[in-house]
Amino acid sequence: MRYSNIVYIIGFMGSGKSTAGKKLASLLGWSFIDLDKRIEEQTGRTIPEVFSQNGEDFFRNIEAEVLKSLKSQTNAVISTGGGTPCHGNNMDHMLETGLTLYLKLTPGQLKNRLSKSTGERPLIKDISNEDLLRFIEEKLTYREKWYNRAEIIVEGTNLNTNLLYTLVMANLNT
Ligand code: S3P
Repeated sequence: MRYSNIVYIIGFMGSGKSTAGKKLASLLGWSFIDLDKRIEEQTGRTIPEVFSQNGEDFFRNIEAEVLKSLKSQTNAVISTGGGTPCHGNNMDHMLETGLTLYLKLTPGQLKNRLSKSTGERPLIKDISNEDLLRFIEEKLTYREKWYNRAEIIVEGTNLNTNLLYTLVMANLNT
């Protein structure tokens, strides 16, 4: 097999990476790892606490470290944070060590999902509902340079998990 049996799920905040990752892992019979949860376990703090106490650069260093510490996992689906692929050489690392899958949603779809939970997310907690769409459009345009390098790109709305499974299996066996 071409890959080390890791599937990385990437995409913007609110795109459903963890939900899709859990379902995919269960269909594959693999384990599921949430990168943000691992960071919280490692630091003993929540992501908003890490951001507010130490800032984003500190968070990005830990994020890269924890991501890279998972490279010897086998048979694991890893859901990443929205910014993970766009910092340092994280995207190259994921392309080299596993199969990458981008869950793609439009800015409008993301806004609908995110407007209910801005308070829990450090990057958007101070953005008003009126400014949220503009923020998402700009950030997504910037981040898609990395997201679009993923080997599999799927529509994230009404996601058909069986289709996801089939796509992943086809790519794992090439
Ligand atoms: C971030 C997304 C978050 C989390 C952190 C930063 C980002 O993860 O890693 O708040 O830069 O987009 P989710 O994508 O799971 O919300």
